[in-house]
Amino acid sequence: MTDTVFLNGDYVAKANAKISVLDRGFLFADGVYEVIPVYRGKPFRVKEHLNRLFDSLRQINLSSPYSESQWLEIITRVIVKNLNVHGDNQSIYLQVTRGIDSDRQHTVSGPLPATVLVMASKLTTGESTLKGEKATLLEDIRWLHCDIKSIALLANTLLVNQAKANGFDEAILHRQQWLTEGASSNVFLVNNGQVLTPPKSQYILGGITRDLIIELCQASGLEVCQRRVHIKELLDADEVWICSSTREISPIIAIDDKIIGSGRIGATTRRMAAALQAFKSELL
Ligand SMILES: Cc1ncc(COP(=O)(O)O)c(C=O)c1O
Repeated sequence: MTDTVFLNGDYVAKANAKISVLDRGFLFADGVYEVIPVYRGKPFRVKEHLNRLFDSLRQINLSSPYSESQWLEIITRVIVKNLNVHGDNQSIYLQVTRGIDSDRQHTVSGPLPATVLVMASKLTTGESTLKGEKATLLEDIRWLHCDIKSIALLANTLLVNQAKANGFDEAILHRQQWLTEGASSNVFLVNNGQVLTPPKSQYILGGITRDLIIELCQASGLEVCQRRVHIKELLDADEVWICSSTREISPIIAIDDKIIGSGRIGATTRRMAAALQAFKSELL
């Protein structure tokens, strides 16, 4: 059973996949990435993920090394090659960096062949029942282009590690008391029956799961209000959940020492988590 990755045109054992120390992704975090969930062997919302990849690449002035159909073929081959290693529920990690330059210099010497990595890991979401999680509220110390899915994740990793060290599951972030998102998730809240989430902007990553949840809310007659949310409103909410491709919907039952709502998983959270599972199983 070999864990196989795609690296620059070749399918190789993960243990043998090597990149140059002069890769701009390694030296400058000069690149972007995607994480695509795979259920029963099928990549989920893959076109939406590829569109976001194309958008991230455009924003950092890199052209996509592959067309949509070529990406689909690579992703499918990585999934198939890893079925006996990770099973048929996988998480596909895809990364594109600006490539290998002749020296470590900030200025790029010219267009370089991009470095492309696609790898798989086991995905476990959706298999277990919903579990209430705890979050900590931290100041958003990231840059001002959080809509780009950049591999520069130092701030995100520092924040989530601070959260974990203090016994929390996720860091929920704010800029001057206005909610942005989680360190690796988007945030929704329910207040007096209304579902709220911050709008897409340069301050948050437009999550594929976030978009789907908004669609599912609307389909079940729940309007989602996308507007700025003050952290006071977040702490006073009846329900809070975070979402991402690998987490799906995770209920938040406490933020720091503040219990959210009743301290139990709320009815709307359960309803939307069930709607998400139903949507997935219809496609499988
Ligand atoms: C900062 C951030 N926001 C939101 C998300 C959720 O995005 P998606 O639903 O596309 O996984 C992620 C996912 O990793 C993330 O890193």
